Amino acid sequence: MKLAFRLVDSSNWRAMLALKVHPEQATFVASPARSLSICYVRAFGLEYEHLPHVICDGEDAIGYVTVACDPNSNDEYWIDDIMIDASRQGNGYGRAAIEMAIRMIVERYPRCATIKLTCFRANHIAAHIYESLGFRKTGKLNEEFNEPEYALGGPALARFR
Ligand SMILES: CC(C)(COP(=O)(O)OP(=O)(O)OC[C@H]1O[C@@H](n2cnc3c(N)ncnc32)[C@H](O)[C@@H]1OP(=O)(O)O)[C@@H](O)C(=O)NCCC(=O)NCCS
Repeated sequence: MKLAFRLVDSSNWRAMLALKVHPEQATFVASPARSLSICYVRAFGLEYEHLPHVICDGEDAIGYVTVACDPNSNDEYWIDDIMIDASRQGNGYGRAAIEMAIRMIVERYPRCATIKLTCFRANHIAAHIYESLGFRKTGKLNEEFNEPEYALGGPALARFR
């Protein structure tokens, strides 16, 4: 496995659009087009930097991850979407990519004290990964989906610095 995040640009946006989850996972993550649109219009707000990436193993696009972060805040650092193509799931890519996303955020944004995300109740695989890395439910529900928000902070986040 040789994982790398590549910012989405004219060379790889088609590869991003070709990525698919299993049909039963479709509600857990925005489609590639929607995820890219969220970044393009800066849907979180103009104060957030929206970064869409293709996740690559060598030259192969195997997934995508989009983050939306307000560099002037302490706790507005969101992993908005992350997925591994259905054909590549179950090989350790998801866990490795989530860890890499956390490291990327703390390296890029020195003020980051908390990383947040939404994970649907039915998404047991993703919840297992997040909880094992130290994410905990905040008690808040995502306004759009009414699904639980999670946060990673304190010593559990410090491990990634
Ligand atoms: C969540 C997701 C990214 C995980 O990617 P992945 O490459 O399949 O995950 P990994 O191979 O790294 O597996 C991670 C863990 O989940 C477990 N797992 C993976 N597939 C599983 C399955 N079908 N059933 C049960 N457990 C499973 C693995 O055993 C592993 O546990 P461990 O690391 O404690 O041993 C992937 O399932 C996905 O893209 N899902 C759809 C989109 C989504 O839900 N995104 C997250 C939104 S919050």
